[in-house]
Amino acid sequence: MNFEYKEPLLVQEVASRDGLQIETQWVETADKIALIDGLSACGFTRIEAGSFVSPKAIPALRDGDAVFNGIARREGVIYVALVPKVKGAERALAANADELNLVMSASQTHNRANMRMSCELSLAGFGDIVRLVDGIQHAKVSLNATVATAFGCPFEGRIDEDRVVSIARAYREMGIAGITLADTTGMANPRQVARLVSRVLEHVSAADLTLHFHNTRGLGLANVLAAYDAGARRFDAALGGLGGCPFAPGASGNICTEDLVNMCDEMGIPTGVDLQKLIALSRTLPALVGHEVSGQVAKAGRNCDLHPVPEYVLTI
Ligand code: COA
Ligand code: ZN
Repeated sequence: MNFEYKEPLLVQEVASRDGLQIETQWVETADKIALIDGLSACGFTRIEAGSFVSPKAIPALRDGDAVFNGIARREGVIYVALVPKVKGAERALAANADELNLVMSASQTHNRANMRMSCELSLAGFGDIVRLVDGIQHAKVSLNATVATAFGCPFEGRIDEDRVVSIARAYREMGIAGITLADTTGMANPRQVARLVSRVLEHVSAADLTLHFHNTRGLGLANVLAAYDAGARRFDAALGGLGGCPFAPGASGNICTEDLVNMCDEMGIPTGVDLQKLIALSRTLPALVGHEVSGQVAKAGRNCDLHPVPEYVLTI
């Protein structure tokens, strides 16, 4: 049993992409920019700042160009853009995204629901994007590709692990360095996570592998620990626990960033993220999105935020 948790855990903030994509209340471009700038000041080295998808599919993020052009780029922070096809990649490159995150589901049915095409067509489109980026001289942009519904699909149920591993390998063979395994609707469990992470780590280094969990069934942080123990080091999380895929029935929020950072702080796992600043930023979210958010630590405070001892206790 490993009781030493010294290896850093890298948190990629996705509130401004996964977090906002499902929100029905319009968030002004300036407010998105302020949110991302606030996250940049918390110590993250990777922020998924938006997506370049059809504005009909995801109206909430239709201002991706203005958002990427408006943020204050902090040195050392990689600003990632999610793109499904070449058209989105062209927009993301024009907006100076540092990294493109290409997304396809392991489940054919969810890919058709989300991306309106078969997995084969998605993969062919990824090939076009790789060629587009390769063709740009001195392009500094990096590539990541996500296997969505990697741990279960809301339409098909169980997903064959061999299929997930072979998609990850196919991405790598196309020249895509970063791989994300995404649990789109929180169907993963810790045992399954440990097994699949171990298998994928035979083909992808820990520095290139990201785990993307949703807390839909309350297993988000348990899955993080199972993945960390199996050797994973990079995790997506969203401020306040915002998030969800609008094309996956029953979807709900990502694992909550401040809850994750609090757990890591308490366990001695370095993240480089300033929890106090993060909590302050999270407390601005209900006004931004128009409803309470699911994160726990912004409500409860940190363990070290102690309460005054009640008067009656002092007399006992
Ligand atoms: N940026 C701007 N406009 C885009 C676009 C992009 N990245 N991609 C497509 N469009 C526009 C097209 O120009 C077209 O507009 P028109 O109807 O005015 O001509 C319309 O959107 C449909 O485009 P088409 O290429 O035919 O796409 P589609 O209807 O087959 O949908 C996707 C395919 C992938 C573009 C769409 O399903 C999509 O954006 N999905 C992403 C969903 C998502 O982000 N899910 C959550 C994250 S995992
Ligand atoms: Zn997600």
